[in-house]
Amino acid sequence: MNEGLKPLAISILSGKGGVGKSNIALNLAYALNELGNRILLVDGDLGLANLDIMLGITPNKSIEDIIKQDLDPKDLFINLEKDFDFLPAASGIPEVVDWDLDIKRMIMERLNGALKDYNYTIFDLGAGIQDSVIMFSSMTPLRCIVITNEPTSLTDAYAVIKVLHMQKEVKHFFIIVNMVKNQKEGMVAFERLKKVCEKFLNLKINLLGIIEEDKEVVNSIRYQTPLLKRAPNSKASLLIKEIGEKIIYLHKKINPLISDSPLLIK
Ligand SMILES: Nc1ncnc2c1ncn2[C@@H]1O[C@H](COP(=O)(O)OP(=O)(O)OP(=O)(O)O)[C@@H](O)[C@H]1O
Ligand SMILES: [Mg+2]
Repeated sequence: MNEGLKPLAISILSGKGGVGKSNIALNLAYALNELGNRILLVDGDLGLANLDIMLGITPNKSIEDIIKQDLDPKDLFINLEKDFDFLPAASGIPEVVDWDLDIKRMIMERLNGALKDYNYTIFDLGAGIQDSVIMFSSMTPLRCIVITNEPTSLTDAYAVIKVLHMQKEVKHFFIIVNMVKNQKEGMVAFERLKKVCEKFLNLKINLLGIIEEDKEVVNSIRYQTPLLKRAPNSKASLLIKEIGEKIIYLHKKINPLISDSPLLIK
């Protein structure tokens, strides 16, 4: 248990799409819950959700209904496990993707009060430098940028880091390298991004973990069962659990610096 620590909101984002954000957000939520924490997992990829599909559930309400139906966020939470709730988003709704940034900000403001009941809130965000990803991630005290070793993933991640750093004055970035053959390959990818950030932004980024390519991830998505439940001892599961432990360690270190409001709403 991590009583005494302030609630921590974490966003999972990336430059390039399809790098494994949703799978990491989902299973990191399970890992932190198994470690004794109260968890809220939020599908923050408004209008393009897919955590519900990965979970094999069909919610009839979603985060968009905070605005659309003026509902209390807590009425939209779906209980997945003991001390583990999920806030789904809708999928395939172009009008939501195009919602004004002010509306999206309002969702976060309404959500803020509910987050204090959880040790960790994990936001699965979209890819790229669109306004909503930048705004949502700048509101969470901890940001995890997911990369692979593909050159396009690295350049796009650099673009996200640059925008957050220059426009939102974000100074701390935590990198998760995913889908690599081994730890060494992951380290090479991280070092490449680190060098560019140091050279052009004079910014030091941090490595949170390296998750290897694992067919169990593909299977768990195909069978719509979270990896940590389906294959808890698979390589990718163990590496995600390690990241969970690292986050708790980090949380203890940064706790005095975290604001009392779960989201940084300026
Ligand atoms: N560690 C891994 N090993 C093998 N395959 C993986 C791994 N992580 C992710 N994948 C594969 O990558 C695909 C995309 O993963 P996911 O949907 O989590 O990415 P995403 O970044 O959330 O995508 P989007 O940008 O579209 O939201 C998965 O369907 C899975 O097949
Ligand atoms: Mg996703």
